[in-house]
Amino acid sequence: MRIIKTKTYEELSLEAANIIRSVIILNPFAVVGLATGSTPIGTYKKLIEWYNKKEIDFKNISTINLDEYVGISYDDKCSYHHFMEENLFDKINVNKENTYIPNGMSNDLKNECEKYDNIINSKVRIDVQLLGIGENGHIGFNEPSDEFIYDTHIVDLTLDTINANKRFFDDESKVPKKAITMGIGPIVNSNIPLLLASGKNKSDAIEKMVKGQISSKCPASILGLNKNTIVIVDEEAGSKI
Ligand code: F6R
Repeated sequence: MRIIKTKTYEELSLEAANIIRSVIILNPFAVVGLATGSTPIGTYKKLIEWYNKKEIDFKNISTINLDEYVGISYDDKCSYHHFMEENLFDKINVNKENTYIPNGMSNDLKNECEKYDNIINSKVRIDVQLLGIGENGHIGFNEPSDEFIYDTHIVDLTLDTINANKRFFDDESKVPKKAITMGIGPIVNSNIPLLLASGKNKSDAIEKMVKGQISSKCPASILGLNKNTIVIVDEEAGSKI
């Protein structure tokens, strides 16, 4: 695991965007795993800026997102589908037919999980998997639990996660309690797991992930098994390592 410490969130975003750009330059057909939430927004802004200057071309890449809420429709502004359109897809030349996000509105969620795994497995490998980290150590919505779950699954979000997600919703009662998430398998087996953390509230999770034992109680700790893992932290998130 390589750890890059930056002073600010802006520097962290620049470092992350640089890694993603390098992957796409090396392989214009790269499979890029994407995340939502506050942390990757600066990275997406950098990538959009370079696209506007014609310094990066997304035409041939495909993207696979980590997760989506269950029961939130695509056009709801709180859905991760909407987030991705607004923060990246509508602003670059990615072919939307090659972008994948789980469907949390499916009537048959079990089947949706299988379908998502089939999509993931149809790719040779995820070339770079962008990740944030929950204050409880989750990656994607792989929440702390007694075991690691390898494949895509439906998860009951923990109270910590539900509370952390409240900031995105006008009406607290609408904060979803369930999500569909990529499992630990494709994340840890991606060519480069790229985890970003910013802010004091992430420092405990980062300490546990970096210094603690590999444990499903801190799902991000499993990234220690992949020697290509890159963790980028700003000063506050990295204050305990
Ligand atoms: C988002 C995701 C989550 C977030 C994590 C951190 O697709 O899978 O694991 O990355 O909850 O969220 P932020 O960046 O909002 O602090």
